[in-house]
Amino acid sequence: MAKRKTKFVCQECGHESSGWMGRCAGCGDWNTLIEEQMPGPAPSGGPGHWALGPSLPDAATVVPLSDIAAEDQQRLSSGLSELDRVLGGGFVPGSLILIGGDPGIGKSTLLLQCLAATGSRQSVLYVSGEESPRQIRLRADRLQVGNAPINLLAATDYATIMDTLARKKPDLAVIDSIQTIYSTELSSAPGSVAQIREATAGLLRVAKGLGTIIVLVGHVTKDGAIAGPRVLEHMVDTVLYFEGERHMRYRMLRCVKNRFGATDELGLFEMTDRGLLAVDNASMALLSGRPLQVPGSAVTSCMEGTRPLLIEVQALLQPSAYGAPQRMTQGLERNRVTMLLAVLDKQFQFGLGNMDTYVNVVGGLRVNEPAIDLCALAAVVSSYKNEPLRPNCLVFGEVGLAGEIRSVSQAERRVQEAVRQGFNTFILPGSCRTALDKLSLPDQCDLFYVDKIGEAMDILFSGGDTQHVS
Ligand code: TYD
Ligand code: MG
Repeated sequence: MAKRKTKFVCQECGHESSGWMGRCAGCGDWNTLIEEQMPGPAPSGGPGHWALGPSLPDAATVVPLSDIAAEDQQRLSSGLSELDRVLGGGFVPGSLILIGGDPGIGKSTLLLQCLAATGSRQSVLYVSGEESPRQIRLRADRLQVGNAPINLLAATDYATIMDTLARKKPDLAVIDSIQTIYSTELSSAPGSVAQIREATAGLLRVAKGLGTIIVLVGHVTKDGAIAGPRVLEHMVDTVLYFEGERHMRYRMLRCVKNRFGATDELGLFEMTDRGLLAVDNASMALLSGRPLQVPGSAVTSCMEGTRPLLIEVQALLQPSAYGAPQRMTQGLERNRVTMLLAVLDKQFQFGLGNMDTYVNVVGGLRVNEPAIDLCALAAVVSSYKNEPLRPNCLVFGEVGLAGEIRSVSQAERRVQEAVRQGFNTFILPGSCRTALDKLSLPDQCDLFYVDKIGEAMDILFSGGDTQHVS
């Protein structure tokens, strides 16, 4: 009998090699190559038959771009306003969407709510390889949508799922999760690169062929990437990440790839005992319960897509008990905070090298925008001096290595949002002056334009109305 040919495939990046290697030549990761059997020759004329020659199908006709009708594709609302916002206005028919996130973050809950909300208007199918129909029913009861017209299929077999999709032709289908789908044609284990790639390719054909919207749930690895090869992210139209701290109330839905819309929108949900609720006034929700007039707390305005969000940054400084001081951050990049502390120390010689420093974005939000820099430093100095900031004060601005305050985008929208939430003192980069001069603000608003960290700190801490909290 002829020996069956095998190849070695990296489970992280999909790189293929004919022999085993300890380190993948594609992505450089160690011990990620797994042996897989090569598929046999594809039957001629079947899918996967790409031989050039006279047998090319007639369907491969070339059309001029201008001849294609340009009418706007009708989007399908997901029934959840925040999900629609992240998708860029709803689902586009025939699109393949991937939702990744930590276990227990609420992916299955979100999608079940979405199906329940759309089920009365469209035919929807929930394919679960992780939970039994009974478990799904229990969850639906908890979400109070137990009687919603949703078709369920508990299956992991690739052929069964494809067959059901082809027969039922749903408008919207959810596959929970892509890692559980198993094709008996392939010898590798469920969740391996070959299985995931095969399943996704098949589902892509269904989505494009039947116009079905397919949402895939993908698990994430320890370092936060969607498990399996990156090819998965390349194949789908939209990639969403569901994030947040599991023990906190708020969940953020972020888009990292979108062929049909912007990628920087953020959807904000609150996990309640009746499932996920869209958060309407996000700034108010994120600032609720904020301690007023305590040292180490500052508020800034961040742009999340088209929406400004007010968030609180907290800092705590303590003399270090050990040789190497701790630098802990939550919601902010640790290296960025370390750099900001170095800038601060260079300017003021606070001796932060002997201080443990903790900086935290409240609410479980993760912020990558440099506009938060000045706010983080205001919170740090406030904790260092044990003195609260001026009341109702909003701080934003990027901080450079020389201690200069640099411009940020959309300053007027950030300020407007803060005014709506009752803030009346603003510390902002000098270069934003022209943008803000055009804005008509209430009389009691004070705008302080600063070019150096020192100027900002003078305004924040020298005010006569600042009270010392003992
Ligand atoms: P789930 O959707 O199962 O997460 P995933 O599919 O991403 O793994 O979410 C489960 C978590 O959500 C679980 O910790 C319980 C919590 N939860 C609520 O707090 N309220 C609810 O109404 C539901 C259905 C779940
Ligand atoms: Mg789940």
